[in-house]
Amino acid sequence: MYALIRKKRDGGELSGEEIRQFIGDYVAGQIPDYQMAALLMAIYFRGLNPRETSDLTLAMVASGDTVDLTALPGVTVDKHSTGGVGDKTTLVLGPLVAAAGLTVAKMSGRGLGHTGGTLDKLEAIPGFRTDLSPDEMVRQVQRTGLAVVAQTGKLVPADGLLYALRDVTATVDSLPLIASSIMSKKLAAGAKAIVLDVKTGSGAFMSAPDDAFALARAMVEIGAAAGRAVEAVVTSMDQPLGLTVGNALEVEEAVETLRGEGPADLRELCLVIGSRLLLLARNSSDMYGARDDLVGLLDSGAALEKFRQFVVAQGGDGRVADSPRSVLPQSSLSCDVTVPTSGYIESIDALMVGEAARSLGAGRQRKGDPIDAAAGIRLLHKVGAQVTAGMPWATIYANDQEKLAAGRLLMQSALVTSTVEPKSIPLIYGAVDRLGIEVRLAGKM
Ligand code: URA
Repeated sequence: MYALIRKKRDGGELSGEEIRQFIGDYVAGQIPDYQMAALLMAIYFRGLNPRETSDLTLAMVASGDTVDLTALPGVTVDKHSTGGVGDKTTLVLGPLVAAAGLTVAKMSGRGLGHTGGTLDKLEAIPGFRTDLSPDEMVRQVQRTGLAVVAQTGKLVPADGLLYALRDVTATVDSLPLIASSIMSKKLAAGAKAIVLDVKTGSGAFMSAPDDAFALARAMVEIGAAAGRAVEAVVTSMDQPLGLTVGNALEVEEAVETLRGEGPADLRELCLVIGSRLLLLARNSSDMYGARDDLVGLLDSGAALEKFRQFVVAQGGDGRVADSPRSVLPQSSLSCDVTVPTSGYIESIDALMVGEAARSLGAGRQRKGDPIDAAAGIRLLHKVGAQVTAGMPWATIYANDQEKLAAGRLLMQSALVTSTVEPKSIPLIYGAVDRLGIEVRLAGKM
């Protein structure tokens, strides 16, 4: 280990054998944390080349179980978002592409972030179970075409150990370490075609678009080296996605979107990622055809019907698809947050809104903390809207007066208004296709 740390510290290249050795030995408890921490810091400063990054990812995959999806019909697909405030795309996209005939067997993590992860959102639905075994998951997908379950600790144990160490040694925001961490879990989860949503902006890991594209390229390359069809889209996380942040509120918004309604940005993002999944699965390049198919499934109610089937299959109350508010938990307290000065909304700081949601009880302060499914935020306006002083721009929900007050304070500093109409924020910055070809868009939402 000493020789490997020195080699990387001095800018050397680690061989595949060396990488497999240190990952295997670390998971077996044969390398002390201080040496692994030193190696992570050397990687943080010196980086890893694409070959080293792929070798690291595959070594991490080999550290635990992998899910065998070969018994499933069709092309198995998966999506992943690098994380954002109000990101409920999986709740819409899963049923939408399953209704289009794709096979979706998805494993999700339980985010430590400001708001809950996908699992926490789904668990806001009374009765919903996410602790299916891999066999139960496969059986459910055979029946319904879709399952979203909790990732087991047996999948990529190397990532769990390394992430915990990175978290306390200031080595989380290293591109090759993020890419290998995300991709090891995606490869182990077994899908053949994967679309990654790499967020950029104030509420994202990679605040600069160039860094987000570099992460997207690195992950597509890892996928290609592992023989999977992987594409990435780079999308905005400058303001929250959609209008709601918080678990039950986000389920309600996902249902609206599946009904063909819902906020424009959420619908558009689901159509963009969904079309790419369809093209990968169909091995086709007819983007307009794929998009039309998905719009048809939203308009006809087929996507909503698939959502209901999926919820019922995982033990949840299917009536959530008809009248979400009568089924989902509702908070006992709420209040409006008002606009301080008249003008246009110039920005809504996604990170601050996320922190406000966490203070309201919608997210965890520490791993294992309970979550209040009913707590959260409903934005009434988004960037670009013309507003006058004193009018509400958001409503916040909690079950505790102190939490409501703390959330309100943070929300008050999340909004910036201007007398000048702001330029519109792009929703989609571009994409990296499965061959690594990068396209940057000038299109605005
Ligand atoms: N998400 C992950 O799964 N891993 C990282 O390293 C960063 C974000």
